[in-house]
Amino acid sequence: MGKVFVFDHPLIQHKLTFIRDKRTGTKEFRELVDEVATLMAFEITRDMPLDEVEVETPVTTAKAKVLSGKKIGIVPILRAGIGMVDGILKLMPAAKVGHIGLYRDPETLQPIEYYVKLPADVDERDFILVDPMLATGGSALVAINALKKRGAKNIKFMCLIAAPEGVEILKEAHPDVDIYIAALDEKLDDHGYIVPGLGDAGDRLFGTK
Ligand code: PRP
Ligand code: URA
Repeated sequence: MGKVFVFDHPLIQHKLTFIRDKRTGTKEFRELVDEVATLMAFEITRDMPLDEVEVETPVTTAKAKVLSGKKIGIVPILRAGIGMVDGILKLMPAAKVGHIGLYRDPETLQPIEYYVKLPADVDERDFILVDPMLATGGSALVAINALKKRGAKNIKFMCLIAAPEGVEILKEAHPDVDIYIAALDEKLDDHGYIVPGLGDAGDRLFGTK
């Protein structure tokens, strides 16, 4: 079964409060999402493999560690996932970025796939799939299917806010995918919105309404 990690770091929790606040405008919302994505990326990379090297310090030779150079792919679910990409790239500037375009049909809430573009060497990369919201879980589920269908073997899913319903569906459908969340909220409302949530992540990021 996939593991679920809820990041309770004070900086993440503090910034998330202002992301939730309906008075927070587009500019600040975007900046905060970017900052939280960086902080979450710091936590999510804890298990990155390291190689031992020798380095000459001004004093002596030291045994030290460097990243072993595992290839990373960051994949935002369009649109709202885009808001998290730059924040992650600050820590992993060499990562490649793919895109998966989905929107939820407003009537059925079912995700409709409209665009998939991934790095060519999909099967050699570890992927971080990002979307601020995990609500019914439908979008994440379809996006993970799209990644796996093209050869991705190692996928982590990272979001700001999740509903218990979405987490359960994802754990069930993709037990090999670990889920990283800044907050696990109470429930979904009748329109598939997370309660208390932050509203519509895409609209708040891009100023559309
Ligand atoms: C939002 C959000 C997720 C999805 C989550 O996107 O960014 O992708 O809903 O909901 P789910 O877990 O029930 O599938 P939306 O469909 O509103 O599209 P947008 O990003 O283009 O606004
Ligand atoms: N998508 C959003 O943007 N917000 C929610 O609360 C649920 C899905």
